[in-house]
Amino acid sequence: MKLHNILFWVNGIALIVFLVVVILGSRRRKPAAPPNLTPYYDDETMEGPKLERFLGAAVIFSAILAAALPAYWLLEPGRQKKMDKDFLADSVERGMFRFAKAGTVPPSEVLNLECARCHGAKAEGGAATFLLQPSQPGELAKTVSWTAPSLNDVLLRFSPDEVTQIITYGRPGTPMPAWGLAGGGPLPDQPIEDLVNYLQSLQLTPAEAMKRNTAKADQIMKDNPGISEGQALFMAACARCHTKGWSYGQPQVMGGGGAFGPNLTNGVTLRQFPPLSGGVAKHVEFVTTGSDFQKPYGTQGIGSGRMPGFGQELSARQIDEIVIYERTL
Ligand code: HEC
Ligand code: HEC
Repeated sequence: MKLHNILFWVNGIALIVFLVVVILGSRRRKPAAPPNLTPYYDDETMEGPKLERFLGAAVIFSAILAAALPAYWLLEPGRQKKMDKDFLADSVERGMFRFAKAGTVPPSEVLNLECARCHGAKAEGGAATFLLQPSQPGELAKTVSWTAPSLNDVLLRFSPDEVTQIITYGRPGTPMPAWGLAGGGPLPDQPIEDLVNYLQSLQLTPAEAMKRNTAKADQIMKDNPGISEGQALFMAACARCHTKGWSYGQPQVMGGGGAFGPNLTNGVTLRQFPPLSGGVAKHVEFVTTGSDFQKPYGTQGIGSGRMPGFGQELSARQIDEIVIYERTL
């Protein structure tokens, strides 16, 4: 039984006993003599033992207070910390239930939203079936399998606020729905915070994420002999946003712009980060830290917070390779 349940019962029983005593007491009482006719203590007793007893009691209670206040003061920060920890643990658990596919977790009153259906049971990444709308006259809608990114590294590239934004507004034009009320979805703020806390709890270390990205790029190099390491890394980490069709296996112009990331070809990045004014370093820094909402970057960029920062999942050398490749697009 939880502590607050026990306290609830103790208080309930105490209340009942109190009521019984009051009711029985009031029945039994005979009319008392009026106070002005009742003799009281004489001066001797009043100022002697009686007074001493009261003063004694006052000393004891002051001593209790004097001991209790510092104890409370000392214990309070620890209690608050534990409270925060329990609070977070509860939030993570609710997030876990939200994320999971129904039937894979114990039943609870938290509705499963089944993010795992697309993003994988452990947020390791997966795929979603999606009805792609035609973009040209004469084209038909077609069903594609759209890669859903891993989320056990999402907080290495985005801040918690940015992830909250993504979950709230979704990714229009992709299978990722809007979940927050502000984006037209069903959820108020708290369940989204629970999801972000849950994702936070299962993040890989930067070293593990780098290893996974390196393995992915190595595989791409093996499958496409002759491409540069920079291009392979771009295909592993950047193409899903910056190349239309990449996520469903029908890539168009590499770096030519996708559902989310802008076009990077035709010297766009050279204009944004011109070579003569330290542009290469700024380009590297931008890819390392990503964009922040309404923060300027390059010569004419205004960030939206949607470009991730890769400093924790790619090594500095790998980012250099990507930038070299990107500047040739
Ligand atoms: C129907 C499939 C589907 C479901 C369900 C789904 N997602 Fe997604 N999600 C996607 C796809 C696909 C993308 C990538 C879209 C793109 O290509 O830009 C994505 C992207 C994301 C991203 C951005 C990751 C990044 O690095 O770009 C986050 C965060 C995310 N989803 C969280 C969630 C959460 C939390 C839930 C559950 C509440 C959820 N998703 C449910 C398909 C889904
Ligand atoms: C989740 C989607 C996403 C991924 C993945 C992504 N980007 Fe971006 N990128 C964006 C968005 C969105 C912008 C536009 C800036 C903004 O909205 O803040 C952008 C902007 C840029 C720009 C500036 C372009 C300009 O002219 O303003 C560069 C350069 C860039 N990205 C490089 C990269 C590289 C390199 C990678 C991989 C290591 C990458 N991006 C991965 C979404 C993405």
